[in-house]
Amino acid sequence: MERAGARRGPRLAVNVDHIATIRQARRGRDPDPVAAAALAELAGAEGIIVHLREDRRHIQDRDLRLLRETVSTRLNLEMAATEEMVGIATAVRPDLVTLVPERREELTTEGGLEVAGQRGRLTSVVGTLQGAGLPVSLFVAPEEEQVEAAKAVGATAVELHTGRYAEARGEAAREVLGALIRAARFAAGAGLRVSAGHGLTYANVEPVAAIPEVEELNIGHCIVARAALVGMERAVREMLTRIRGARA
Ligand code: PXP
Repeated sequence: MERAGARRGPRLAVNVDHIATIRQARRGRDPDPVAAAALAELAGAEGIIVHLREDRRHIQDRDLRLLRETVSTRLNLEMAATEEMVGIATAVRPDLVTLVPERREELTTEGGLEVAGQRGRLTSVVGTLQGAGLPVSLFVAPEEEQVEAAKAVGATAVELHTGRYAEARGEAAREVLGALIRAARFAAGAGLRVSAGHGLTYANVEPVAAIPEVEELNIGHCIVARAALVGMERAVREMLTRIRGARA
């Protein structure tokens, strides 16, 4: 990941999983996440993210293959640290692999990856992916222990989980924001690239976008939800305006 300018703010990467969720409601062809990704890029997104889940509830293998051919910015593949997914990632070769925890019964990725508790297994998975030339980011809670473990298992980047920040209100939100600021500083100090995401919205994105070490924001649901009403390009541009305003 290239360092984002301090004034310009972090890059926006758009997760198009929920375009596929709408398509899968009828198991048809529309709307196509490949088309949505192209529109997001035209509107200024600097990355496209998909989560290929074990149960294929939204993104399909075909989407990933086509996105690899069509994405002209950077393609970030979110996936569980399983043998099947490692095989797919090494064949498709996204620009970045983000390892996330995955449980079938969850509605969305609920927590960060428990890196500290599974250093041996993750060292092996990260080593295989990076040995194949694929940079790896780990999706972790904004805690020093997890960030330190991410560094120890060989990751090049961390994505800080903003889900708790997004759910908190008032003083609690300020406390979680403080944890994000400290974790971002700690990660950058350890030589890791830093991104953040999950649950970010037009209303809550600015304090996270203002954290100087955060180079990229990964945002999905709220952009797709707005895009359903006003179109993808406008939804992306409105988010970019919020992000760029945060460091002005
Ligand atoms: N980052 C990660 C690792 C995720 O799993 C998700 C959800 O798929 C996101 C970011 C985007 O979250 P949201 O859809 O709430 O913007």
